[in-house]
Amino acid sequence: MVSSGLRAVERCDTLGVAPYSDMEGGLFRAWLTPAFAATQEAVAGWMAEAGMTVRIDAATNVIGRYEGTAPGAPALLIGSHLDSVRDAGRYDGPLGVMLGIECIAALSAAGRRLPFAIEVIAFGDEEGSRFPSPMLTSQAVAGGFDPRTLNVTDSVGISILESLTAYTPPIRFERRRETCVSTWFDTNGIDRAARSPGSVIAYLEAHIEQGPALEADGLAVGVVSGIAAQLRYSIVVEGMAGHAGTTSMTLRRDALTAAAEMVLAVERLARGGTSDVVATVGRLEAKPGAVNVIPCHVAFSIDIRALDPIARDAVADAILAEIEAIGARRQVSVSVDRVHDLPASPCDSALMDLLSDAMAAEGQPERRLASGAGHDAMVMASLCPTAMLFIRCAGGISHNPAESVDPADVEIARRVMLGFIERLGDSF
Ligand code: GLV
Ligand code: MN
Ligand code: MN
Repeated sequence: MVSSGLRAVERCDTLGVAPYSDMEGGLFRAWLTPAFAATQEAVAGWMAEAGMTVRIDAATNVIGRYEGTAPGAPALLIGSHLDSVRDAGRYDGPLGVMLGIECIAALSAAGRRLPFAIEVIAFGDEEGSRFPSPMLTSQAVAGGFDPRTLNVTDSVGISILESLTAYTPPIRFERRRETCVSTWFDTNGIDRAARSPGSVIAYLEAHIEQGPALEADGLAVGVVSGIAAQLRYSIVVEGMAGHAGTTSMTLRRDALTAAAEMVLAVERLARGGTSDVVATVGRLEAKPGAVNVIPCHVAFSIDIRALDPIARDAVADAILAEIEAIGARRQVSVSVDRVHDLPASPCDSALMDLLSDAMAAEGQPERRLASGAGHDAMVMASLCPTAMLFIRCAGGISHNPAESVDPADVEIARRVMLGFIERLGDSF
């Protein structure tokens, strides 16, 4: 018989190709695309099969609920995200959802009910791959959704509001949609996804580590102590287009060479400090993009993170000052838009202890580690206490199709999660 850990991994593998991917020969599943809808449909089916009642909320999150001993009790939420980066690995996000489903499948098969309900929540957007505003759907659940975000557009100018309005929900939810218009989305009502603090007792997320620490220490799982603060900017550099053959080098206002200098400054300034600050330019687009035209318009992203928000902000300030100086020296105009800012998010110490106890019961050594990657847990922390369990991934590789996880480690994670759930029940 296939172990539950292996089934969780195999389901992620199933979701790694068409129709669950919009990319030929790899995985790309951005929020509100056809691949995303197909994935929601599959996940909703697995939730129902595990014994949950399934709904889709006003922010397009698929939520499966497993009642506790008394119907309507507050819930432990177990979640992660279904969207992916471009040319992604298969486990960043979906594995946490599949593990939540496996926990419920085990409880349901044993007829076990807890003094609280458990809801598995598959968030819609965490990566910000399509719209430059990540973690929108967890923000809606945590009650922190800013309605102005509905106007944010993707790379072809489609706004979040337009995408939500046009989104075809999975077949499973169609009937509900007919009888109750916009149950899953209402242009004025995305905040109806918000949970009242009294309806939620805690949030648990399992995720591949996306780094090499657990592997280096020979450990299958570890308890996350906290998540690094994030800051993202969208930078636009405007120079002047000109003929590549006739404009002398001294007379140019080349937006791309100016941006190149800025990108190198980002790397130099982030490397310069003694802290854990990391900064990345992950996207850059130059226009008009012709071999014989001096580029006049460049847009690029900057992502800056650190566990220490003061260190993060100091590097961010230095980067922005340097970008301004480069722009002035090269006579190009620069606009800076801060598109994302999340504080560092410590995990709840009592919940961390429950995870450590559950790990010990499975023979797993105590290990706590911080997360440099962002997770929906950092948004959910404004709603309820949060806990995260990291699972070793091969070579620490993530955001890469080579992402890989051992099903045996996933099985250990599932057992630890079940131990956590039982211990949480005992503490009631
Ligand atoms: C999400 O994967 C992030 O940390 O950017
Ligand atoms: Mn990711
Ligand atoms: Mn993730």
